Amino acid sequence: MRVLVVGSGAREHALAWKLSRSEGVEEVYVAPGNPGTAAVATCVPIAADATVELADFAAGLKIDTTIVGPELPLVLGIADEFAGRGLRLVGPSAAAAQLEGSKVFCKEFCLRRGIPTARAEVVRDRAAAAAAVKKLGRPVVFKADGLAAGKGVLVCRSADEVEAAMVRFFEERAFGAAGERVVVEECLEGDEVSFMVLTDGAATVPLASARDYKRLGDGDAGPNTGGMGAVSPAALDGEVAGRILREIVVPTIAGMADEGVPYRGVLYAGVMVTRDGPQLLEINCRLGDPETQAVLPRLEDDLLALLNAAADGELTGRRASWKREACACVVLAGEGYPGKVRKGDPITGLAEALAQPGVLVFHAGTRLAEGQLVTDGGRVLSVVGRGATIADATSAAYRGVDLIRFPGRQFRTDIGRSLA
Ligand code: AMP
Ligand code: GLY
Repeated sequence: MRVLVVGSGAREHALAWKLSRSEGVEEVYVAPGNPGTAAVATCVPIAADATVELADFAAGLKIDTTIVGPELPLVLGIADEFAGRGLRLVGPSAAAAQLEGSKVFCKEFCLRRGIPTARAEVVRDRAAAAAAVKKLGRPVVFKADGLAAGKGVLVCRSADEVEAAMVRFFEERAFGAAGERVVVEECLEGDEVSFMVLTDGAATVPLASARDYKRLGDGDAGPNTGGMGAVSPAALDGEVAGRILREIVVPTIAGMADEGVPYRGVLYAGVMVTRDGPQLLEINCRLGDPETQAVLPRLEDDLLALLNAAADGELTGRRASWKREACACVVLAGEGYPGKVRKGDPITGLAEALAQPGVLVFHAGTRLAEGQLVTDGGRVLSVVGRGATIADATSAAYRGVDLIRFPGRQFRTDIGRSLA
């Protein structure tokens, strides 16, 4: 079978790596991919959001299954384009991907279906936002309605931070059309977990638990990022996991089906486990990055068989089994991340890192310049360690990290520490 992975990050490198080990896979293609995916797959120079060209390519090469990494192609309707041509793709339709594509849609859906989430007001201007802040109290969270590459959420604790959010949203209009409507919501306190499932629209198969480290600095200091590291398993209590499934994930999938917008593919619930139980922070319509890099190496089963079952409506009665090992992923980011990043810094020590036992390296923002690997984006590499315990896995990851060098390299030194 031929499979196509859409995207160019470390999540897609991990998918291509795992799929290349699936039974019956003769060729893996990645569009557009990166120098890392080139080692395990064939890179195809088509952008991830060029949905029509991707469908042309999949039809031409008789691709059996396509899996989409990032949210943008899904929100743009890649699943609809493929379905219209009878091509198998794992991921929700544009209408279902609105759960991620519009925070207003997601919030209104939660309210309609009684799914626990933070109290919120939808506003369009400063006066309405000020009234919402007054009603909800501080701390308060401002969220741009549309996709904003992980930068559209501001958690405001002080009056100054609220004022800065007002300026950013309503004067600078920093998020353009994505910020025309803004969700102002109550700030929840608790432990955050990433809960990912595979669903065929009715049945669900939970993936292994994972925890993401969103802030740039150690001890959760500094700005929010796309994710600076992840560990799996997360120390998620079985009872809490059951509640997340019953109170959030299953009602979401059932509610979408009930409203005539069946949701198929990966559903990722970002959940705050509060004193009053789990509350939904956000839904992503795809696998998490970097969670995927820590979860997929632990999958015992055949990944392609699971993905095909989700796409074909045949997940009922299936489950995924996981290796008893732990995985830790440490992201190496470039100078300036998550702001404006410097590119083109030479990367050394990759081969030495890969020679370490239990170390995997997945590429994200890298590029080959005259044979030399250089940085080419904010998140540059995901260094993954595997071990019997979280402590072993993190030691392996940091052994790899120590060997990989590039100017301006940034990473957290505390991934997995509180769980080890
Ligand atoms: P989101 O894209 O909605 O997940 O927001 C990004 C990050 O902001 C989340 O992962 C949380 O760390 C934080 N966040 C979002 N909403 C809230 C909330 N209501 N209370 C506390 N933190 C939040
Ligand atoms: N790691 C968070 C995300 O993928 O959105």
